[in-house]
Amino acid sequence: MANNIRYFIGNWKMFGEPKSIAILNKINKFVKSDKKLNKKYKVVITPPHTLVQSYAKAFSKQKIIIGAQNCYHKDNFGANTGAISPYMIKSVNAQYVIVGHSDNRAEGDTDEMLKNKVENSLTNKLKVVFCIGENKDHKKNNKTFNVLEKQLRNVLDKKFNSKDIIVAYEPIWSIGTGQIPQPDDLHETVKYIKKVLKNIFAKQSPAVLYGGSVDSKNIGQFSSLNEIDGFLIGGASKSDQNFIDIIKNYYK
Ligand code: 13P
Repeated sequence: MANNIRYFIGNWKMFGEPKSIAILNKINKFVKSDKKLNKKYKVVITPPHTLVQSYAKAFSKQKIIIGAQNCYHKDNFGANTGAISPYMIKSVNAQYVIVGHSDNRAEGDTDEMLKNKVENSLTNKLKVVFCIGENKDHKKNNKTFNVLEKQLRNVLDKKFNSKDIIVAYEPIWSIGTGQIPQPDDLHETVKYIKKVLKNIFAKQSPAVLYGGSVDSKNIGQFSSLNEIDGFLIGGASKSDQNFIDIIKNYYK
């Protein structure tokens, strides 16, 4: 297996206030105590921008790593109301950034913008979680592989350092719906994504995660799919118990 480390990345989306740090304290405590397994995985949480600085500071020497959910596509500073650049994210010691989430694609992120976001984030020494995924119609019309390949090729460039990129496969029809792909389909899709990545990055391919309705009850179904290097978890990451049980049940 090329990538042994597993990632459990919690994307809080528009959730969280200062006191929500209690959730992360519990997850951190669990990871610390999980001495038998905790070298095998990394836990990353992406709270909303309002909490990135304080959480990154609180967990700077802990087990949990803090990232951001999105970034602006160019420049370090500029006259762009509401925008936050990779430089600014790095300046408060966050280490990861999600780029290309379907929520943001739906709001107008183009491939060109996403490419700039990835490049700018890597320049600022952030690790990038790059999201791809087909919608219901693509799936119905057997366009999944085409769509995924385009999303990868239009954004990821062989000059990028693949060690700092993680690809998250998130089928849009699965996000927040409770529907997850059939294991065989997921196996084939992730294999295909890895083939395309190998083609782009001759040497080392990025890790590939799955995201979409992952919770503590269905995580066991993913454990045997060895080619999946981890998970991007939305709703279930807002509960410490659910998130901890995801890790526990994955390794059961
Ligand atoms: P859910 O786990 O809530 O389906 O969300 C997945 C997701 O979009 C994570 O980025």
